[in-house]
Parts: sequence; structure tokens; C-alpha cells
Amino acid sequence: KIIILDFGSQTTQLIGRRVRELDTFCEILPYNKFPYDDPAVIGVILSGSPFSVYDENSFKLEFDRLRGHYPILGICYGAQLMAQTFGGKVEPSGTREYGRANLEHVDAGNPLFKGFDQHSQVWMSHGDTITALPEDFECVASTKEVKYAAYQAKGEKLWGVQFHPEVFHSLQGSLLLRNFVVDICGGKQDWSPASFVDTTVAELKAQLGNDRVILGLSGGVDSSVAAVLLNKAIGKNLTCIFVDHGMLRKNEFHDVLRDYESLGLNVIGVDASEKFFSELAGVTEPEKKRKIIGKGFIDVFEAEAKKITDAKWLAQGTIYPDRIESMNITGKVIKSHHNVGGLPEKMHLSLCEPLKWLFKDEVRRVGRQMQMPEHLISRHPFPGPGLAVRILGDITPEKVRVLQEADDIFIRGLREWTCEDGETLYNKVWQAGVILLPIQSVGVMGDERTYEKAVALRAVTSTDAMTADWAHLPYEFMAKVSNEIINKVKGVNRVCYDISSKPPATIEWE
Ligand code: XMP
Repeated sequence: KIIILDFGSQTTQLIGRRVRELDTFCEILPYNKFPYDDPAVIGVILSGSPFSVYDENSFKLEFDRLRGHYPILGICYGAQLMAQTFGGKVEPSGTREYGRANLEHVDAGNPLFKGFDQHSQVWMSHGDTITALPEDFECVASTKEVKYAAYQAKGEKLWGVQFHPEVFHSLQGSLLLRNFVVDICGGKQDWSPASFVDTTVAELKAQLGNDRVILGLSGGVDSSVAAVLLNKAIGKNLTCIFVDHGMLRKNEFHDVLRDYESLGLNVIGVDASEKFFSELAGVTEPEKKRKIIGKGFIDVFEAEAKKITDAKWLAQGTIYPDRIESMNITGKVIKSHHNVGGLPEKMHLSLCEPLKWLFKDEVRRVGRQMQMPEHLISRHPFPGPGLAVRILGDITPEKVRVLQEADDIFIRGLREWTCEDGETLYNKVWQAGVILLPIQSVGVMGDERTYEKAVALRAVTSTDAMTADWAHLPYEFMAKVSNEIINKVKGVNRVCYDISSKPPATIEWE
């Protein structure tokens, strides 16, 4: 495996995903947690960072235990850190360099740049720059602005690149990572969905034996794939619980329940909507709504789980990005995303997380490998508290109904609209939904004055929900959806489109 040491860059997870795309296993660890005793490690990548190497409290590494022991690739801060540590110089660049650049003077014979075009486009994002290399290092690529865009320690498997090969806009970035991971480190490329399913099912069988396991299904990709994997391993010993808090999409509870049953899962559907509606009545504060739903969910789940008296395990669809112990630079909670944290201890259950090493796209590949239906696998993410965080202000069953209708028209529209390249709009966006606004406005329908609600459509593109851009949907599509919503959804007379990106906005409105 490859170890990626994290210095807090926004793109550290992307490095991990690129390495996995090369069918090579990797782990992302905080910079000071290198597993020196792990014989499976074949190479090290040092990430970027929002900090400067000459900051007083900058991160330091025990390089004498790494250099000469493993192939090393430093990216941005990682490259600067090695250059500075081994006797070079790093200084603030006059202007912050951000965006596209083209390589020059690429040493085509260098193994890291094998197959590179001479003027390959790369992506820069840095405020500091390497102004002098250590004596025994040589420059292997430059750009107009950056003299040492890439270097190698002479005769050693140690490289630094100032640009970010992991981002999409570094057009040959994947090739560079392939050169490092496969050619230089000797990665065997044996990490595939098929091998993952086989080994995981075998491991689960060994781990769980004849024990009974319970799992909370949400309708989302992760818990569904976890359930199918467990079902393969232990069959009837898995009991799944699917709670309807009343704030799901239109018909979702029944449709998804039917999907689960046809997958052969042993699933209990619990309709708890009344409980949630009464607890949420009159509550307008977003965090309070989230807390009520989080706690209510745990209560319902626990009551149901207790009926399975001999359960030993709680299984969850936790995936790798949920667990990566990255540097938390700000330490501030923006929104409390709800999960079933705390349940296993309370109920004396052991935790089983079969997807804990996978990125989202890998979870989807695993689902396809197990022949799960495509509409379950390519589903957009949906927040745990559901439509509750898309109804601004207090929640009533009637408001949920209005929102469900509008949302259904929007989502169905996205699924049915095929673009020139044959892909549907639904598959082109990361996530979409409708928000019910707490305002009314004047309209006219026939000869009548109306005074009704406004809704906002939200559709975003993203790769990990950390950052997102509003989706540039075709005008004709928006016209069609807006028209259909206003004509068919009683109580709505105005439709807006949310054109904010994240940051500074978030994907959900609450
Ligand atoms: P924000 O609104 O923070 O959302 O940009 C980022 C992603 O997280 C989803 N989300 C949640 N998911 N429980 C979840 O399981 C939650 O409480 C929750 N809140 C937001 C959101 O839909 C988006 O994909």
C-alpha cells in the first residue's frame, strides 16, 4: 500500500482517490502517524498544506526514517518541506500562484515524467516557492513562473512537485501518479471491486460466524451496498431496519423498501412519521430540527433493534472519507450531520463497518460488481434529516407534501432529460433538490390573484460535497420544470434557482 501523509490540504483526499483509481490500496494518515512497522508499505506521498514551511509551528517529519527507506513523492507543501529540510530554500512568492500553468524543460528521461508532453498543463496553488534546491537535488521540470516545478534527489527515489497532480486540471497528473505508484513503487494494481467483494465476504464470514447483525438502512448507496455485502456473507442472520421519519422524498419509503425486498434482504420498515411530526411541530431553528431528528431516529432504531434480543453486532455503511483523521484546521462545527453515534456502546453491540476503507466511487463499483440495480447505485446523496432541512421555518405534514410534489417533478425531470452526450442531467449533477421558502408572493392565475409560496431549485456539481458549484442547467429544462411545478403543485406560484457555490454557501439551506 501507499501511505499519504496529510498536512491539511483540501486535496489530500483526491490524492487518495487517484491512487485507488490505479487499483492500488492506500491510506491517508496525519503527517505524524506514519506506520513504520507496517511491512505492506511500498511508498509515501506527502500532501500539500495551507501552512508555510517556515511558519514557527510548521509540521516536521522524521525524515531519517523515511528517506532512503521508501520511494517518496512530495506535492506542493510536501515538496517545499523536503527542499527546505535537506538544505534548499523556500520563500514567499511575490504573488500567490493559482491556476493553470504549462511545464517547460521537462526531463523526458525522468521516470516520474515518463510519457509526458513537453508543455503539459498543470495546476498550481501555492503562496511559497522553492528558490534554491539542496545540493544533491536536480530540477526536472519548470514553468514560466516557477523554476523548480519538479525536482529529484540525484540517484534516489525521492521527488517533489510544486503543482498538484491529483487535480483534474493537471491534465497528465494521473500519469505522473501512475509512474510513481506502479513503476517506481511497484504497486501491483490488485485492488479491484471483484477482489474486494471476495475478500470482504470471506472476512465477514470469519468475523461474524453465526452471530446476528443489525443494520440501519437509509436508502442511500452506502448502507445499501453494506447490506448486500453482509447478506452475501451471513444471509438470514442480518436484519435491516429502515426508518421513515416522514421527511423522505415522495413514495421513497415504499419504493426503496420494495427494492430491498427484491434484493433478498431481511428488512423491517418502520413508519415513525407521526412521532417526528409531533416532535418537530413549531420548531424553526435549523440545529434544533437536526437534533430532534437525530435523537428521534436513535430512539426508534433502538426500540426496534431491542426486539432482536440476540443481536451482537451493529453494521454501518461508514465509508473512508467519514473516518479520515485529517487535520481540522478551523475546528468549528458548521452543521451537525446526524448519524447513529453512541448507539453501539449503549446497546452493547460491536461495530461492523465493511466499507470503511472505500471511497464513494469505489462503493458504487462494488455495488455494480454485485449486480445491484443502477438506480440504487447512482442515487444522489440525501441528508439524514431529509426534507426537514429543506423546509425553512417550521415543519408541517402539508408543507412536506408540497415540497415532495415539487421535488418529484424536479428529480423526475433531471432523470428524463438526456444531454447531447447521451448522459442524463440526473447523472451529471452531484445532488439536486427543492427548498420550500418561508415567503409568499403575489401571482396571477387565470383571472385570480394568488398569494402563495416560493420554492428554490438547487442542483450542484461536486466530487465530494466539500466544495460544490451550482449546476449550469439548460434554460429550456428549467423553463419546463418551473412551468410544471407552478401548474401542478397547489400552493406554489414562484420558482427560483439557487446560483450559489460552496463555499461560501452550503449545499443544503439549513
Ligand atoms: P452541506 O449542506 O454541509 O452538505 O454542504 C454536504 C453534504 O452532506 C449532506 N448532508 C447530510 N448528510 N446527514 C447526512 O447524512 C446530515 O445531517 C446531512 N446534512 C447535510 C448534504 O446533503 C450534502 O450532500
